[in-house]
Amino acid sequence: MIDIHNHIIPGIDDGAQTLEDSIELLKLAVDNGIQKLVCTPHMHAGRFDNDVDTILPHFIKLLSKKNKLKLPIEIAMAAEVRISDEFMMQLKKGRVPMLGQWEGADCVLLEMPHAQIPMGIDNLINWLKRQNIRPVIAHPERNKEIMRYPERAQALADKGVLFQLTAASVSGQFGSQAEEISQWLLDKKLVQFVASDAHNTTRRPPAMKAAAGVLDTWVGEEERIKLTHTNPDVLTQSIFLKQHSQQYSQQHSQQHSQQFYQEKEQ
Ligand SMILES: [Fe+2]
Repeated sequence: MIDIHNHIIPGIDDGAQTLEDSIELLKLAVDNGIQKLVCTPHMHAGRFDNDVDTILPHFIKLLSKKNKLKLPIEIAMAAEVRISDEFMMQLKKGRVPMLGQWEGADCVLLEMPHAQIPMGIDNLINWLKRQNIRPVIAHPERNKEIMRYPERAQALADKGVLFQLTAASVSGQFGSQAEEISQWLLDKKLVQFVASDAHNTTRRPPAMKAAAGVLDTWVGEEERIKLTHTNPDVLTQSIFLKQHSQQYSQQHSQQHSQQFYQEKEQ
């Protein structure tokens, strides 16, 4: 499986706090059958003041520790961005790491406030569309307005929004209403992705295996594979590729300079 939403990078939001926490989470992710994982720390103005510059060094630290331990999982970097005026400014300045691409558009993982669908979301979607950016909305099944009026999710989907359900909602850990709305959204074919939104190893682990079991009974194995592997793979191919080419060019330039110094010493 490929997990496109979690808080595994240490010390920059309310997820993992130490590098040891992060490694424990990655081990749990491996046990859950996750082969690739996109780290998506919060960017939430005034609460978690992150952007690409604050996230990247912590991500690189985690990546090198993971490589050193030879954990059998690939990781890449994006962010979960709270809808706000700051978000629009950060996006304009290129400070928001993207989640990947879908049907030729760049994608950003967006978080709505929990109580409602924010006013002006239609304008925001149109503004993003003009820049060829498509929002992936995180956990619509936990938004109070969508819980009350699920058909409002259909209106957002009609405007081109993609949806990501949280694994723990599917398996009932966020209560029966979130579970029912998850099922409703899946029945209406509004969901493209299921992800863990993991924060820690105890209360909010990367529990994809349990969700996969439930999805098999709700939508069948073929659709479950789409939601947890095929669609996330299509979405994130560009960011994993980018990372591979960066690692390659780093290795390449290191090899090059080693060769240069060796030749000079001879
Ligand atoms: Fe999250």
